[in-house]
Amino acid sequence: MSDFKTILDAAIQQLGGNETVQKLLGVGASALSNYRQRGQLPAAKQAILEAELAQQGWYLDLEGLQFTPLNSGQQRRVLLLITGGIAAYKALELARRLMDKGYQIRGVMTKSAMEFITPLSLSALTGEKVFTELFSLTDEAEMGHIRLARDADIVLVAPATANFLAKMAHGLADDLASTICLATDCPVMIAPAMNPNMWAHPATQANLATLKQRGVALIAPEDGDTACGEIGTGRLAEPAVIIAAIDRLLAPQQAPPLLSEAPVKGLIGRHILVTSGPTYEPIDPVRYIANHSSGKQGHALAEACAKAGAKVTLVSGPVHIPDPEGPDTEGVKTIHVTTAQEMYDACITALPADCAICAAAVADWQVVNHGTQKMKKTKTGIPKLELAENPDILASLSQHAARPDLVIGFAAETENLHLNAQAKRQRKKCDWIIANAVGGSGEDAVFGQDNNRVTLIDAHGHEDWQQTSKAKIAAKLVARIERWFNED
Ligand code: CTP
Repeated sequence: MSDFKTILDAAIQQLGGNETVQKLLGVGASALSNYRQRGQLPAAKQAILEAELAQQGWYLDLEGLQFTPLNSGQQRRVLLLITGGIAAYKALELARRLMDKGYQIRGVMTKSAMEFITPLSLSALTGEKVFTELFSLTDEAEMGHIRLARDADIVLVAPATANFLAKMAHGLADDLASTICLATDCPVMIAPAMNPNMWAHPATQANLATLKQRGVALIAPEDGDTACGEIGTGRLAEPAVIIAAIDRLLAPQQAPPLLSEAPVKGLIGRHILVTSGPTYEPIDPVRYIANHSSGKQGHALAEACAKAGAKVTLVSGPVHIPDPEGPDTEGVKTIHVTTAQEMYDACITALPADCAICAAAVADWQVVNHGTQKMKKTKTGIPKLELAENPDILASLSQHAARPDLVIGFAAETENLHLNAQAKRQRKKCDWIIANAVGGSGEDAVFGQDNNRVTLIDAHGHEDWQQTSKAKIAAKLVARIERWFNED
């Protein structure tokens, strides 16, 4: 089976060799070998490469590891439903980028979308008629709405307004776009864009939950400034993120066994380092600074890696759960540590590793003036703790001379999940971040719970995963890791 390097090299060859591609991407020779080594290209460079190849009749998907000639039979058809928000103008860019990747686009616009962009501009771009009316005799004669709905490989609603999501959730069919959503039998993907308050409103969230439950794929909006001037979640996801999701959805044969816990043996021969649990930073022999981490997610990951055949070093802080045990986890060596410094030392000693997953909630600070005897209450007042920063294990592994090929961090955030986690990924120089919102209660609680809701963040963007058990998240992440290493 082909791996990243083989596919990239084949694509480079197709384009005329290293020098041509360096010129095309505006980079030097070292950049190309860097991409090969890292198994990744910067998103912008990847887009240029894909667009150029599509011009030449080739389809390149570096994530799905596909490089095939495009022929008309293979051209995948996207029925793009544009609904009426200010982000409608971005649908034009999205359509263009999809076409660059070899997708055939047929457009449908709602009445309110036409307040923002014209059917003419979309039609000029796609070279196809743009459909707007449910009851248009000409359109019905040329192509009934049922055929329109089914004559596609995917129905993509982008941008999807709050109103349109509500209509979809309630099965309304009062215009062409909503009728298509009911009539279609192909996968439906929505990329919402709206004001942050509208996005956060329980009505919108309930509609989304209904749609997700029915199997509609969601490309969550991003954090940042929205057109209405408010900051928060509501911006239409970047075209590259939407396109990557479509690539994945339409390449099921390439998809990992997502939520399956069936043992996969794709990590045989790999050494994976996992950190898990909290660290305890002593104040004196009886007191310490700690956090709520239970170690459940990190331990589940160590188990899942072992089930996939990897040799695993699990460096665990103090937890109340057993070491991974059972015949499937014989490959796990658990090292018990207490402080962040001990965890750091154990991790560095465990190198080399092919992959590191830092799931531990490492204390940021240690108490420099911790006592060797129990601190007593004295009349001189409350003791002052002097803190010093702990070594950052994730950042150190990412920049180590023996850097694992794939370094994955976690980000526990209480606000601006996507923005903060993406910034953290860049700051710590790791490849992926698994971000979760912490500090919630009830269904949204994370610490100590068996379920978790996470977002996978990489250089290309983010992908929200549905809430599920920590074991299933571990299985899904391990399937991703396996795909990254591309072992059969
Ligand atoms: N991490 C680490 N060593 C540290 C601190 C954090 O390896 N000293 C790792 C965690 O295991 C996790 C990631 O860094 O994979 C992010 O942890 P988090 O607590 O969210 O980030 P912080 O670095 O503590 O950043 P902040 O507190 O500013 O959010």
